[in-house]
Amino acid sequence: MARRKKIYEGKAKILYEGPKPGTIVQYFKDDATAFNAEKKDVIEGKGVLNNRLSEFFMTGLTQIGVPTHFLERLNMREQLVRAVEIIPLEIIVRNYAAGSMAKRLGLEEGTPLPRPVVEFSYKEDSLGDPLVPEEYIIAFGWATQQDLDDIVPLALRVNDFMSGVMYGVGIKLIDFKIEVGRVYEGDFMRLVVADEISPDSCRLWDIKTGEKLDKDVFRRDLGNLTDAYTEVARRLGVMPANT
Ligand code: C5P
Repeated sequence: MARRKKIYEGKAKILYEGPKPGTIVQYFKDDATAFNAEKKDVIEGKGVLNNRLSEFFMTGLTQIGVPTHFLERLNMREQLVRAVEIIPLEIIVRNYAAGSMAKRLGLEEGTPLPRPVVEFSYKEDSLGDPLVPEEYIIAFGWATQQDLDDIVPLALRVNDFMSGVMYGVGIKLIDFKIEVGRVYEGDFMRLVVADEISPDSCRLWDIKTGEKLDKDVFRRDLGNLTDAYTEVARRLGVMPANT
């Protein structure tokens, strides 16, 4: 058997060269990291759940006309995606104060924000992904003004979709992160949602109990992460064991 060409290995995923030009196989690992990889563990089954949940969210986005890199799920841990040129930004949308925003502004976690807030971090592990203003993004050429003018409404559409889907199963979408990539089609360039959308990259609170069903369970030692993600999958009707 021939060995596949590994393109990149990150904290939670491995990217392999895909079967056709312009495609990539995205493999979901069980590794969990937090605080820029200062805290690490292997959480059995996490990769399977995130593969399936990311498929669910990306497919739903495609259905409402939000372009994504997702092509098809290949097996329990792998999905085929379009090769994109990743914009080196973490695009964070917040509906309620939590995490770094709550800390920075001295707000109680769970405080509703007057409107959804979109913010950008520069994707650079060695710096801990610092929050950056739009001025920096343009000045350093990480994205153009046009990109940002397109990314903000794109991120807000993802927020509307994700908030609605989650609300329907009794979960509050506190905040989330997406990544966006460029795809070239002839004379045109299109921005698509890339990477993954999963409980690793969202904050999800049970509406009734406030129970956390996301990676904060791992970050803050609040219980069993697989149980939390399985609960999200169960409510959404996404059952990895059967697929
Ligand atoms: O830590 P912070 O409050 O800035 O995180 C905001 C949101 O972005 C959270 O849902 C978190 O899970 C997500 N995030 C992420 N990857 C990062 C940083 C934040 O998925 N590197």
